[in-house]
Amino acid sequence: MSIVDDVIREKLHSHVLLIRQVSEYIINSGGKRLRPALVILAAGAFGYSGKFHYNLAAVVEFIHTATLLHDDVVDESELRRNKETANALFGNAASVLVGDFLYSRAFQMMVEVNNMRVMQVLADATNTIAEGEVLQLLNCRDPYVTEENYLRVIRYKTAKLFEAASRLGAILGNATPEEEEAMAIYGMHLGTAFQLIDDMLDYSGNNLDTGKNLGDDLAEGKPTLPLIYAMRVGTPEQANIIRRAIEDSGKDGFQPVLSVIQETAALDYAKQCAEAEIATATAAIASLPDSENKECLLQLAKFSVTRNH
Ligand code: IPE
Ligand code: IPE
Ligand code: MG
Ligand code: MG
Repeated sequence: MSIVDDVIREKLHSHVLLIRQVSEYIINSGGKRLRPALVILAAGAFGYSGKFHYNLAAVVEFIHTATLLHDDVVDESELRRNKETANALFGNAASVLVGDFLYSRAFQMMVEVNNMRVMQVLADATNTIAEGEVLQLLNCRDPYVTEENYLRVIRYKTAKLFEAASRLGAILGNATPEEEEAMAIYGMHLGTAFQLIDDMLDYSGNNLDTGKNLGDDLAEGKPTLPLIYAMRVGTPEQANIIRRAIEDSGKDGFQPVLSVIQETAALDYAKQCAEAEIATATAAIASLPDSENKECLLQLAKFSVTRNH
């Protein structure tokens, strides 16, 4: 991972000062580097011994970083990685444009790998993420979004990049088509669980741990799973509180919504859904040969549902 970080730093280079300022600001703020770790671990699980996994890990982190720059503009978020967001500090225009720089730099880097399958996987994933974010935009302030529709959004906006990262490692490691598919399924379910927990933490986390402001989702009128479930099982009064909060982006405050979430045990339900996703992810790679890399992939799956950050 320290080699991946070296690649990231080297490839951030631009003659345009503002690009370096914004991109280095967000990259140096940290982040868990989970998606690049997936590329490295998946490649290792298939005995890959070349060097392209470092580049592809950096590519995946660049795509992730670009989505965060854009996402924080769209979500009007002010805190990420325990620091002011790039949009809060440099403005929306700079964030959007540097996001574009990172996307296009990622595409320059993936072309260097000169593997059509790799390009196909990354091009498809990037396109799907954009679809997911737009679908989510359509869902904002709509309390009638179904659980199925919500799941589709998170599969697109988040799980797809986890899937791509896992699949890329398998492709580099010359995995069989069955093994590649197993890795892709693992990544997809891992990413789904990851976003389910992210959406829970927006109601139950601690902003010092998450590095983000709690309640951002409600402030955007995002119908995430805890709310969808609370409306489904709550009394008509409880459902009304949630419905109105989604429609007016929580203007009446966070507390009434939080009370209904607690009374309906909605976070327990979301956690159970995440655990079910992780069970599927784990089962998908069970038949891969045992290795330290596989063990790490399994631990990563456990982390994604127990995490508080
Ligand atoms: C944040 O992802 C965006 C989501 C998909 C929830 P991470 O939680 O992986 O963000 P960093 O990179 O660690 O900051
Ligand atoms: C994450 O979505 C952004 C993408 C996956 C593209 P969210 O808006 O739910 O994530 P946070 O909470 O801002 O990190
Ligand atoms: Mg956001
Ligand atoms: Mg979120």
